[in-house]
Amino acid sequence: MQIAVTGGLGRLGHYVVRALGSHDVRVLDVGAENDCVRADLRDLAALRTALRGSEVVVHLGGIDRSVATDDAETMQVNAMGTWNLFEASLREGIRRIVHCSSSSVLGLDQSNPQMPPRYLPIDEAHELRPTDAYGLSKFCGERIAEAFSRRGLEVIVIRPCFVAFPAMADFMSGRSGPEGRSEPLPYLRTYVGADDCARGFAAAVSVAYAGFETFFLAAADAFAAEPTVARLEALYNVRIPVRDRAHFQRNEFASPISHAAATARLGWRPTTRWTAEGIVA
Ligand SMILES: NC(=O)c1ccc[n+]([C@@H]2O[C@H](COP(=O)([O-])OP(=O)(O)OC[C@H]3O[C@@H](n4cnc5c(N)ncnc54)[C@H](O)[C@@H]3O)[C@@H](O)[C@H]2O)c1
Repeated sequence: MQIAVTGGLGRLGHYVVRALGSHDVRVLDVGAENDCVRADLRDLAALRTALRGSEVVVHLGGIDRSVATDDAETMQVNAMGTWNLFEASLREGIRRIVHCSSSSVLGLDQSNPQMPPRYLPIDEAHELRPTDAYGLSKFCGERIAEAFSRRGLEVIVIRPCFVAFPAMADFMSGRSGPEGRSEPLPYLRTYVGADDCARGFAAAVSVAYAGFETFFLAAADAFAAEPTVARLEALYNVRIPVRDRAHFQRNEFASPISHAAATARLGWRPTTRWTAEGIVA
């Protein structure tokens, strides 16, 4: 398959490009170097040229929460840039787009400290209530993706949780993060291993299409030393309805986000476990 990967030079991009190794992969990025094709998501014409000849697009390019410094730019690249990418793809005859959203669409973070989860574990049917620019930009991206699925594109949305790149190990244990990166620890303490995350994108590239679908990619556990339900109830100071008690009885540190849909449809299973010393695969 001819696959174009936007943001292919980024942190997650490197893992995804490697996971797609059996395909013919073209890397698109605003900071293109070597064999990569330079294409800015803000430039529709450049995107059309860069996508020509591809069959599938994995759309990772954008401003991640961890590097976002300018809200207007975040909206411009993640929302408007996503529209450009989908419009260019439709016009260039792309068959499928695997679109990278984020668990941030939930809005369950520091930007909404009074807004607890409606229920646990959280699944893809959970209400989305983002208010900050990054979460909103990802929410807009998902709605754009859904709209283009009605125009004939095969569209699958992937919502990774916080990606546990090796360089994040200290940060995830409460120590200072990689140089130049400053981001609050996610309220939910959900994460996904970088290799696991990349496998999820690769699975979405190849799965038989069954209409517009969305999948969380979450490790089975949370990266916290306290049991999940008690920790979140203390954080929000409310009782949170638990729909699947067995989920937390099997493992009291289980992720507050379920990966059941990704397992059922993509055959995806996380392989990691968090410890204070790092991620164990
Ligand atoms: N890292 C995480 O924890 C995490 C979690 C959930 C979702 N995501 C999403 O995953 C994707 C990849 O994130 P990452 O962690 O690899 O971030 P990253 O910053 O390492 O990579 C993003 C890539 O997008 C490119 N890019 C930025 N602006 C662009 C533009 N205008 N045109 C073209 N390319 C542009 C950058 O050059 C970079 O290579 C992003 O969409 C991000 O929002 C990341």
